[in-house]
Amino acid sequence: MIVTIDGVAASGKSSVASGVARALGVPYVSSGLLYRAATLLGLEAGLRLENAAELLAHLRAQPLRLEALAEGNRVWVEERDLTADLHSSRVDRGVSVVAALPEVRAWVDGQLRALPEPFVAEGRDMGTAVFPQAAAKFYLTASPRVRAERRARERPEDVPAIEAALVERDRLDTVQSAPAPDARVIDTGNLTLEGVIGAVLAGLPA
Ligand code: ADP
Ligand code: CDP
Repeated sequence: MIVTIDGVAASGKSSVASGVARALGVPYVSSGLLYRAATLLGLEAGLRLENAAELLAHLRAQPLRLEALAEGNRVWVEERDLTADLHSSRVDRGVSVVAALPEVRAWVDGQLRALPEPFVAEGRDMGTAVFPQAAAKFYLTASPRVRAERRARERPEDVPAIEAALVERDRLDTVQSAPAPDARVIDTGNLTLEGVIGAVLAGLPA
């Protein structure tokens, strides 16, 4: 069984996916971390992020591994754990350019589709492009201000700067971020994390 949790930036996807996965006793997979890892590796190599051929050649030369732990995904390149470097503002600013490249999307999708079921998958297009056959689909939203206030607890920038960056990233991600027609949309603005996890669990097929 596959459960998909998509949504806009900082809507709570990974926290909710982790909670749901733990309740079900299955792994969750963060597709966004793979886009972030591609971006970080491209930036570190000094590549132009819009050059798909260069970036793909660089990615294919690295043995990148997504570790789908229920308590939090990690990304490794050989013995190096990239995870702590994937949520910097530098990666935030570049990731939508990388995610717009069809070749990179195919690289991410191939890794996700190779994973053994069951799992919870979170991102933008899990319920539409990658796993349209999923047993249950959810789409998380919240106002930009609410999302920025939540993320401000994890970042050094102030709320208005974070809000502006989130709105811009939502705009750049519009193409792949449409909710699946059969997704249950949850506005997380007035809900606690536990409340959202409970709503998802209550919406699963028996
Ligand atoms: P995403 O994966 O969509 O970027 P995260 O799971 O990283 O979102 O959530 C962003 C932040 O918001 C985290 O600090 C998380 O703990 C917090 N958060 C998520 N959902 C809620 C909620 N319903 N109520 C309060 N805080 C939340
Ligand atoms: O956690 P947050 O919502 O801030 O971002 P993320 O889920 O880690 O995704 C980072 C970026 O990856 C997004 O802004 C998109 O550009 C891209 N992404 C995507 O295009 N498709 C996905 N399924 C997941 C992420």
